Amino acid sequence: MTETDLKQKNIEPPFWAFAWPGGQAIARYILDNPSLVKNKSVLDLASGSGIAGIAALAASARHVDFNDIDPLACKSIHLNCAANGLKVYPSILRKNLIAGPTNQCSQKNSWEIIVAGDVFYEQPMSQKIFEWLLNRTREGTEVLIGDPGRCYFPEGPIEMLYQYSVKTSKMIEKEDEIVSRVYRLLHHGG
Ligand SMILES: C[S@@+](CC[C@H](N)C(=O)[O-])C[C@H]1O[C@@H](n2cnc3c(N)ncnc32)[C@H](O)[C@@H]1O
Repeated sequence: MTETDLKQKNIEPPFWAFAWPGGQAIARYILDNPSLVKNKSVLDLASGSGIAGIAALAASARHVDFNDIDPLACKSIHLNCAANGLKVYPSILRKNLIAGPTNQCSQKNSWEIIVAGDVFYEQPMSQKIFEWLLNRTREGTEVLIGDPGRCYFPEGPIEMLYQYSVKTSKMIEKEDEIVSRVYRLLHHGG
């Protein structure tokens, strides 16, 4: 099925079919710094194929919730966990966690770390996600973002932690390899 077919049938493009550069950078960062997630409870927000959450499980996170609104993404997480040799039944939240007021979390949670890879590609969603994440930071949750310089990447209390050159596909990017950065949200966001 081509992109035109998808548009005509009003089907969302298969975001879950790629490991996006933002998710790749977070995954790499977690695998390079496993103590970040070891024995911790993690949310992979807008997880797509689940690359960042899978890295967290591989790095001995205590628990990972994968979250995406796309049912096919949720299916792909099961397959990708198995393909990565993880013998866990992944915990998948197929709901829009950011739908309500951003100062409230619609899910009762105890996440110690939230990771969000490549989420700043559409304006309204980017703004909502950023506000939601900032509020979680203010509540004391560590938030890591992976982003290759998307146009709606927010301005705010953000610290860049590391950058990687990651392989990608010309189906989704202009180049085969691009720079993707890992950021941390800071607590003094006002
Ligand atoms: C560009 S993909 C990134 C996927 C993955 N994090 C990665 O880096 O490979 C964006 C993902 O956000 C998901 N998404 C969009 N709006 C969302 C929302 N409100 N809540 C959860 N997921 C959402 C899409 O379904 C898609 O899987």
